[in-house]
Amino acid sequence: MGLPKFVHLVEVGPRDGLQNEPQTVPTKVKIEFINLLTAAGLTTIEVTSFVSHKWIPQLADAKEVFTAIQKQPGIDYPVLVPNEQGMRDAIAADAKCIAVFAAASETFSQKNTNCSIKQSLDRIEKVIALAQQHNITVRGYVSCVLGCPYEGEIQLNQVQTVANALFQMGCYEVSLGDTIGVGTPLKAKLLIDTIAKVIPLKYLAAHFHDTYGQALANLYAVLEQGISTIDSSIAGLGGCPYARGATGNVATEDVLYMLNGMGIETNVNFPTLLAASNFVTKVLGHQARSKVALAALASSR
Ligand code: HMG
Ligand code: MG
Repeated sequence: MGLPKFVHLVEVGPRDGLQNEPQTVPTKVKIEFINLLTAAGLTTIEVTSFVSHKWIPQLADAKEVFTAIQKQPGIDYPVLVPNEQGMRDAIAADAKCIAVFAAASETFSQKNTNCSIKQSLDRIEKVIALAQQHNITVRGYVSCVLGCPYEGEIQLNQVQTVANALFQMGCYEVSLGDTIGVGTPLKAKLLIDTIAKVIPLKYLAAHFHDTYGQALANLYAVLEQGISTIDSSIAGLGGCPYARGATGNVATEDVLYMLNGMGIETNVNFPTLLAASNFVTKVLGHQARSKVALAALASSR
């Protein structure tokens, strides 16, 4: 299979990014940030999480953020939902698309959602039933697909089982999370080979964190296999507070630079994306974790 002609970028910065920042970004700033991402031409922007405020205090303003952003037609604004309580809140906020999440590691499932994998899939089944009653679309995540911060190696057949469970329950897409960024290209290829046996490639997305600097190489490897949906985070923000040692997702700027350089379309505007990256890093008071953003900034001086 050759490289895809078009790649769909799923921006997870406002959710995966801001959930892992030590500081809580003011609601108004989050709204401006998300509006800038919309202006950049991204067509899926994961906005926030309707999770427990005790577990993720940084996103406790989920309802305010979700209702105040300027939503453009044709753009999906999914929100993360862990249980029926979160689903009811998402319905009340008029969400049209949600994301559910399960793990391929028992220990990570316990640490992140306070329940076993089986219990989390039971919860998700109830969440999806509610979503379907309200015509809300559901994206699914599997965490720890290339390794777990607590258990180390994870068997690919376990990843396959959890991914397939989400797909069979009605997720329109299953995003494979290298939560702690430990994967390397040949392992990423083996992962896709294994999952594609039960879920067609067009329903899979790669969600690779960049802890060990392998994310772009891993993405190139899976693009060659026909993956054409990539989750990324502006300025390389991100990580999960319940995954020890995890750092940010692959930076959207870096992925866009690579795809542009290979002639792969995304419909995302590079200068506007950089403006969003500069905006959020100024607010957070640290540099972008993106070589491309840093190089662009240096050459503009
Ligand atoms: P729990 O403490 O077992 O929940 O947490 P509970 O049902 O026992 O309820 C305890 C309290 O939480 C109650 O409040 C509930 O009302 C409240 P109290 O009576 O004590 O005042 N509560 C909620 N509040 C608001 N919204 C809700 C909600 N649910 C309960 N939805 C729970 C279980 C699943 C809720 C918790 O563990 C949780 O929220 N976990 C989410 C953690 C999280 O967001 N992690 C990061 C996202 S996952 C990720 O980053 C990975 C990903 O990027 C892919 C990858 O990289 O691999 C997706
Ligand atoms: Mg993640």
